[in-house]
Amino acid sequence: MEKIEQNLIPTRTLADGTRIPCLGLGTFGSDKYNAAQISAAVEGAIRAGYRLIDCASVYQNEAQIGEVLSKLFAEGAVKREELFVTSKVWNDRHGDGEVIASCRQSLADLQLDQIDLYFVHWPFPNYHAPGCDGDSRNPDSKPFSVEEFMGAWRQCEELVDMGLVRCIGMSNMTIKKLEEVLPLCRIKPAALELELHPSFQQPELFAYAVAHDMVPVGFCPIGSPSRPERDRTAEDVVDTELPSVAAAAKAHGVHPAVICLKWAVQKGAVPIPFSVKEPQYIANLKCVTEDPLTDEEMAAIAADDKNCRLVKGQVFLWPGAKGWQELWDEEVPETL
Ligand SMILES: NC(=O)c1ccc[n+]([C@@H]2O[C@H](COP(=O)([O-])OP(=O)(O)OC[C@H]3O[C@@H](n4cnc5c(N)ncnc54)[C@H](OP(=O)(O)O)[C@@H]3O)[C@@H](O)[C@H]2O)c1
Repeated sequence: MEKIEQNLIPTRTLADGTRIPCLGLGTFGSDKYNAAQISAAVEGAIRAGYRLIDCASVYQNEAQIGEVLSKLFAEGAVKREELFVTSKVWNDRHGDGEVIASCRQSLADLQLDQIDLYFVHWPFPNYHAPGCDGDSRNPDSKPFSVEEFMGAWRQCEELVDMGLVRCIGMSNMTIKKLEEVLPLCRIKPAALELELHPSFQQPELFAYAVAHDMVPVGFCPIGSPSRPERDRTAEDVVDTELPSVAAAAKAHGVHPAVICLKWAVQKGAVPIPFSVKEPQYIANLKCVTEDPLTDEEMAAIAADDKNCRLVKGQVFLWPGAKGWQELWDEEVPETL
């Protein structure tokens, strides 16, 4: 297996001085890949040189990933301190004491004493059954509430105090929500996980994260071509077919997926592409070490933004909500 030299992989610095690699491996199987396949990819990716792994309790594979990590530590393939592991609390565990209990479960599953970066996965306590229909509504779902969110965030702060996590982060936020909660945080978020790919660049939110010392961690960086059916609509743009991405792929002689990743990294983000296929995940990490995009190519991709959100979150809507745009503090178009 090809190995990528660590000293060739650029890093980002979190607000507390911790350095993390500029690209990591996602572990959400999109209902298509199972835990055994994903944990095997985590093993292969770490052996190839990955040092950042993006996990979450809802991906239902932390126990299998924990087995792999423990095996790699035992054989000396990687040291714990060389690895940066994230996890996330799911929407149904925001209540009193629940965030801490969920984090303890992730720690036990991952077989770690500490998680490096722990996210509040979504800013709502809204739960939906795994694999349910896009238009199903949970009667208990509610709109965003600062008080409810801060209840979850206070527990994340406590996790830092307890030493169970090193840094904490937020995910699926908007500027409006961040403006409301950031002044209330005793420990500020070190990172913001956000959907980020050439057809959905979120320039204002991205700039806001950077200005507030949150490293932007980009999910669905390739436009999530294997995402579940419930997350697909007829209007969705295919990132790898955008003219600017296709042209750069041709010029560099690589797959367009790799262009999406180079673009994200050169912008200053930390993309977390998913793949269980060895040639893909190796190409994805290797691409940050060689043959950067030109300024012209970066500008052409910037101009190809289509404001095309793929993960709309409609399953988290509350009864009576008019459309998924409400989750993102946007106007719901009249036609819906
Ligand atoms: N915070 C959140 O709410 C949130 C939401 C969504 C995702 N995430 C995180 O972000 C990660 C990545 O997002 P994602 O998995 O949805 O989408 P993605 O990384 O944009 O797309 C992954 C897919 O792209 C294809 N691919 C990967 N590398 C390739 C290459 N070199 N050449 C050609 N095709 C390639 C693979 O398709 P095939 O399988 O068909 O080969 C793979 O399944 C997730 O795994 C998860 O960790 C977080």
